[in-house]
Amino acid sequence: MRLILYLGKGGVGKTTTAAATAVRAAELGYRTLVVSTDVAHSLADALDMPLGSAPTQLTERLWGQEINVLDEVREHWGELRTYLANVLRRKGVDDVAAEELAIIPGMEEVVSLLHIRRQAKRGTFDVVVVDAAPTGETVRLLTMPETFSWYAGRVMDWEPQTLKAARPLVKQLVPVSDMFATLERLTKGVEALRENLTDPEVSSYRLVINPERMVIKEAQRAATYLALFGYPVDGVVLNRVIPVEQAEGEFMRELARIQQGYRKLAYDLFQPLPIWEGPYYARDLAGIEDLSMVGHKLFGETDPVKIQFQGKTQEIVREGEEYIMRLPLPHVEIAKVSMTKRGDELFIEIGNFRRDMILPMALAERPARRAVFRNGVLEIRFGEPELLPLGATASDGL
Ligand SMILES: Nc1ncnc2c1ncn2[C@@H]1O[C@H](COP(=O)(O)OP(=O)(O)OP(=O)(O)O)[C@@H](O)[C@H]1O
Ligand SMILES: [Mg+2]
Repeated sequence: MRLILYLGKGGVGKTTTAAATAVRAAELGYRTLVVSTDVAHSLADALDMPLGSAPTQLTERLWGQEINVLDEVREHWGELRTYLANVLRRKGVDDVAAEELAIIPGMEEVVSLLHIRRQAKRGTFDVVVVDAAPTGETVRLLTMPETFSWYAGRVMDWEPQTLKAARPLVKQLVPVSDMFATLERLTKGVEALRENLTDPEVSSYRLVINPERMVIKEAQRAATYLALFGYPVDGVVLNRVIPVEQAEGEFMRELARIQQGYRKLAYDLFQPLPIWEGPYYARDLAGIEDLSMVGHKLFGETDPVKIQFQGKTQEIVREGEEYIMRLPLPHVEIAKVSMTKRGDELFIEIGNFRRDMILPMALAERPARRAVFRNGVLEIRFGEPELLPLGATASDGL
């Protein structure tokens, strides 16, 4: 089973690309499902076919689905959400705000992905194409499935009286033991989901961009945090490139010239990832025939279901008395990376994203000395252990 996930800034062409990939995959003989996790769906429009919240067969080997995100949230998070909202209300948070606070950011996408995983596990499809991939919030939530329990715990423990006052209410709604069972189910589900989503044999993330500055910048950020959290990116779709030879008139020529500059930038920034280019079409794109044409143009003879790039996400090597941890972080500038080590935890921060890593024992007892950034790889050097048990030498116990 393969999962192909497209992500990118609003309007760059994620839905079109996902649908085109799926149409192409089906043509190549794969049993393919294309599924939208967007609350505001547009997949049915792109395919020009009605879709439901269960997979609808569209051609011999193609199925489409628009997940009802709100239903999924209600199913997986409903009881807990009601419970938490009530606790918050007791605390004086007003109604609508309490409902909002009772939802963990990223929750919607997580429950959609849980749904996709359940479905994929049934084994009906060779490939599932996802429009669109998880955003930053979701990636963080996936990385720490305990967030659910932590969050629920925080809401309940803020004030002991709150919990006490809320108890009678809780009893009416859900028995507390059910609540813990729900939390555990969610945590386990998310753990398993993360395993699939970070397995390069299963999942491929693809960035969709246009030859525009802000779009490329946003995609760079996404590439960075996906790498940081260990999600395998295997390519970039550069969509809406104006064909230079067809650009007539001063305005169009200038626009094409600017685009070519950003096109080159994209190749510089995203190497060694493959880039697939799609032209700017001077017409509406809709329906399977159009999508097949878009898919052909984009991938040519390449089979888009296959893994297109594989690289290491993390590596620890020994050099003399030191250890070096290598984190390939494409497109990061060293000035934006900061590092703190506390016991066996290493915190790496890049902008808003933070990775809390538990270090293996061999590194935990060593001071994190230096972080150097070389050829797109962050190298963290760990020195000799600072505190040694009496009579031990530096190489003991390693
Ligand atoms: N290469 C292209 N040439 C011309 N039009 C395109 C191209 N790619 C996409 N479009 C059109 O642009 C519009 C937006 O594309 P699409 O819905 O695929 O973007 P999206 O990234 O999924 O947007 P959203 O972030 O809103 O979900 C659609 O009408 C689509 O048909
Ligand atoms: Mg879309």
